[in-house]
Amino acid sequence: MSDPTPSSSPSPTSPQGELVIRTIAMPADTNANGDIFGGWLLSQMDLGGAILARNFAHSRVATVAIDAMAFLCPVYVGDIVSCHALHLKTGRTSMRIEVEAWAQRQKGGEHVRVTHGTFTYVALDDHGHSQPVQRS
Ligand SMILES: CC(C)(COP(=O)(O)OP(=O)(O)OC[C@H]1O[C@@H](n2cnc3c(N)ncnc32)[C@H](O)[C@@H]1OP(=O)(O)O)[C@@H](O)C(=O)NCCC(=O)NCCS
Repeated sequence: MSDPTPSSSPSPTSPQGELVIRTIAMPADTNANGDIFGGWLLSQMDLGGAILARNFAHSRVATVAIDAMAFLCPVYVGDIVSCHALHLKTGRTSMRIEVEAWAQRQKGGEHVRVTHGTFTYVALDDHGHSQPVQRS
């Protein structure tokens, strides 16, 4: 079976992957412009991808790489932000996971894809050393 590929559409109409995070963008997460800080969004995506990776590997995981991050639209205070994660590939100790973040606008309720990126996680043993992914 071939590995799934991230959506190639520049503006998909619905998220791909499993819903892993759902939260509300708060005033404390804003940047100097009053929009939501990119670092906050990135951390939500990283957490979301780690949830999928951890459940897949049945172990702790650590992020080793983030590739192909694209920030497409701003997120505003009050938007409902959801992260969706799609498992792309498993290596020996690593897993590549595509994560998309979508915002449901507080004003109008429109759903827009705001970011996407590819996260690589490594399965860890109890001592923090990489270990082979334990597929179920
Ligand atoms: C995770 C960690 C223990 C792995 O150490 P290691 O076992 O010596 O690392 P390796 O070089 O053998 O790489 C492990 C796997 O990650 C992959 N990998 C490592 N760097 C990578 C990168 N930049 N991009 C993609 N994959 C990468 C390797 O290809 C390998 O995959 P495979 O086993 O499926 O073939 C170590 O890199 C670490 O502690 N990193 C810090 C993690 C961390 O703190 N993350 C949070 C950052 S804020």
